Amino acid sequence: MQHFISRKAMNIAGLGSETVVLLYQKNLVKDIADLYEMDFKLLFGIERMAEKSINNLILGLQDSKNVPFDRVLYALGIRAVNIYVKVDESLKDNTGKEAWNPEGLMQRAIRAIKAACPEMIVMPDVALDPYSIYGHDGIIKNGDIANDETNEALVKMAVSHAEAGADFVAPSDMMDGRVLRLRQGLDAAGFHHVGIMSYSAKYASAFYGPFRDALDSAPKEADVVVPKDKKTYQMDYANRIEAVKEALMDVEEGADMVMVKPGIAYLDIVREVKNAVNVPVTVFHVSGEYAMIKAAAERGWLDHDKIMMEQLMCIKRAGASLISTYFAKEAAILLNK
Ligand code: PBG
Repeated sequence: MQHFISRKAMNIAGLGSETVVLLYQKNLVKDIADLYEMDFKLLFGIERMAEKSINNLILGLQDSKNVPFDRVLYALGIRAVNIYVKVDESLKDNTGKEAWNPEGLMQRAIRAIKAACPEMIVMPDVALDPYSIYGHDGIIKNGDIANDETNEALVKMAVSHAEAGADFVAPSDMMDGRVLRLRQGLDAAGFHHVGIMSYSAKYASAFYGPFRDALDSAPKEADVVVPKDKKTYQMDYANRIEAVKEALMDVEEGADMVMVKPGIAYLDIVREVKNAVNVPVTVFHVSGEYAMIKAAAERGWLDHDKIMMEQLMCIKRAGASLISTYFAKEAAILLNK
């Protein structure tokens, strides 16, 4: 199968030498309090980037020396960012069409980050859940997720991310065959150089709770039949062998990197996938894992920095080439000391 690795991106990310790259995830959320005078739940403990416009968000956040925010992250050694967006309820439907709006929040965010810091590897999330009225990663048909129809929507989404300047796309949706369709779709649109970081072994996990609260993206009750959870497309946490199978299939379909998610409770899976594939393995230290450390530290029950570094190091030991974590900035500051 022919596919193209984004060599420039891979080199900048230092992936050739298997260095740890900490991904700082931006929850790009509208400042709802300001705009709509509504109470808005935040991802527990995370620095929210308040914004009135995306340009203010990316370019306006500067440190005391007036260095744009992404420059600060880059200077700390963070080489890549994953982006997720919280979109307004009025923009949600069952097709997810806002996901490929060239002027959508995600597309503006990608452009703004690349303008502020061209060297930063930008890996936008590809999945329909932030755009779905039902809070699902796919289009709902006859009470179920329409896999192939969803894949075509994801291709449009990924191409629009590439047009906005993304270095990688990061499908977190878990539809079958989507890596192949994304590779074909990106190539057909001339984006051979845009890589794919596939969420290959993504488990149906309660550790995603704080993320779903922040994005308001949990599966919802509806007037039509809708699957009540994501277990028809995300993996069963009792299942070990399927993780390796999924990762190998994604590499075969053209994934440049694979991911295991969540992190700490899944390190056996990380090692097994690492031993099976010949591409970098990313591990996602997810929102619930982050929240548990923050909450325990707040109560004085655990040493925040020590636990943070221990968990990140153990993820690395298990075989992670990249770690996607909300702790990226804090950890990078410590590592620079
Ligand atoms: C959805 C998506 C989720 C996360 C990343 N992408 C939630 C879900 O699958 O419901 C979770 C991230 C986290 O918990 O930090 N495509």
